[in-house]
Amino acid sequence: MKNTTLLVSALFFLLLQTNDSFCQTYARNGMVSSSSKIASEVGIDILKKGGNAIDASVATAFALAVTHPAAGNIGGGGFLVFMDSTGTATTIDFREKAPLKASPKMFLDKTGNLTQGKNLYGEESTTNHIGAKSVGVPGTVAGLYMAHQKYGTLPWEDLVQPAIDIAENGFPLTWSLFQAATFFDSNSPIVFLKDYFKKDNGELIQFGELWKQPELAHTLTAIRDHGHDGFYKGDVAKEIVRFMKENEGIISMEDLNRYTAVERKPIKGAFKDYDIYSMPPPSSGGVALIEMMNLMELAVLDSIPFNSTAYVHLVAEVMRRAFADRAEYLGDTDFNVNTPIAKLTSKEFAKKRFENIDMSRASVSDSTKFGQLYDGSSTTHFSVADASGNAVSLTYTLEHSYGSGMGSTKLGFIFNNEMGDFNPKPGYTTTSGLIGTDPNLIQPEKRMLSSMTPTIVAKDGKPFLIVGSPGGRTIINTVFQTVLNVLAYNMPVDKAIEAMKIHHQWFPDGILYEKGLLSPDTAKALEKMGHMMVPIDGLGELMGIQIDADNKIMIGASDSSSPDGAAIGY
Ligand code: GLY
Repeated sequence: MKNTTLLVSALFFLLLQTNDSFCQTYARNGMVSSSSKIASEVGIDILKKGGNAIDASVATAFALAVTHPAAGNIGGGGFLVFMDSTGTATTIDFREKAPLKASPKMFLDKTGNLTQGKNLYGEESTTNHIGAKSVGVPGTVAGLYMAHQKYGTLPWEDLVQPAIDIAENGFPLTWSLFQAATFFDSNSPIVFLKDYFKKDNGELIQFGELWKQPELAHTLTAIRDHGHDGFYKGDVAKEIVRFMKENEGIISMEDLNRYTAVERKPIKGAFKDYDIYSMPPPSSGGVALIEMMNLMELAVLDSIPFNSTAYVHLVAEVMRRAFADRAEYLGDTDFNVNTPIAKLTSKEFAKKRFENIDMSRASVSDSTKFGQLYDGSSTTHFSVADASGNAVSLTYTLEHSYGSGMGSTKLGFIFNNEMGDFNPKPGYTTTSGLIGTDPNLIQPEKRMLSSMTPTIVAKDGKPFLIVGSPGGRTIINTVFQTVLNVLAYNMPVDKAIEAMKIHHQWFPDGILYEKGLLSPDTAKALEKMGHMMVPIDGLGELMGIQIDADNKIMIGASDSSSPDGAAIGY
């Protein structure tokens, strides 16, 4: 729902109707749910050719890098959670790394303040999100390659080729991409982004016209032919380093040559009869999700109706506590080896955290105004299930929507601005949401803390629910509520995705809620309990699949807030 307010134009409504975005999709043999219908179709084609869920994910991810450039990428990073047909789960971490020349105070001026500049939208911002210095060493190609080498079945070339074909032959520019193109043309100070959606003659591609990306096709061809090394060595790597030098970036050839993805054990938790598998650090998503589900298990949810005052209050209090712990403890565990993950995800810890929730009164983090928190297109998630019972949950990102907005015209892809996910000012935590705690300070080769929460829930040891979302720190909470809606409130995945969501992140101390989906009386009652209530148009752009093992059916769902997304099955 999210965008289905009275303000939505009839045309937009029609577009959504015709590209299946509202619908849940039923299938028996395979399902891909992503923020781009074209990319979902690419994934389904790979499944039809006999590929498994990993093969389909690799192909979908490369296709999204062409069709959903706000977040689909080869210049960023992300996480993949994989459960095979025997119920064994693993994860691949391809989060970006800080370059070797990075340092904790690299974004501060001599007086210790964060330096300021204009970002890709032409807005005033801190420089940890601006320019070539904000680019982390990209991880996507390494991660997809590792996933394929370990668990794929079809030839690598066959998985990259569909993206090359789309980039070379073009695809009709969607309305949402056209809106981005017009905005950047008029507003962006970054030349690469201004020109990104233009034809050779300098004119902007119009809605529905074919958008071709020959330079990106060329870069993808190097990746098709040389795998991991096609990006981290050779001509592509040389051009990345040249570009960085020209733009005062600090990524070197050594950074690219040294980058590797890492296979990690998932974070595992349990809620009732279900097992939950999600991403470990450097994502905070899995730990916070399990902590919150453990807390919710302690409440008598049968007596707390969905969307009631008590429900919103409890969920917000649970979020407040998990986000406080996130800020205190979480960062890249390759650097913070003593991170108490087992404690944070234990049932005993949840009991302690639950004890001081007062069901009649809001706790206090502190009070302040909300800053920018939500950027729904800043990251993207897709879910895949195949006929053999394998499942993939993959979330990847450029950090902000369109990342740093910078790129080499020879390479045709956008670089991330993921360095902005580190705590930029050591020791400086503010009530407006800036965190300065040690675990996530910048260090060379460290991975910045993420909120991405690609998740697979298992029932009887087999994939049952595959889900994830974009949205910065809101990701953790939208995935949490979707999982809760299915496991505790028995909603089917499509209803769970569309249902009202809230967001609380400790600081700022208030509840973002989806206006139109929460009754004004409930919002008033929550205010009386001491909560600051902040309405927002929508939260999350969830892409999910639920597997009904009894009926051997897959139910795919694409959040209606996704203008170009679709769940496609066969
Ligand atoms: N850049 C968004 C995240 O990693 O959480």
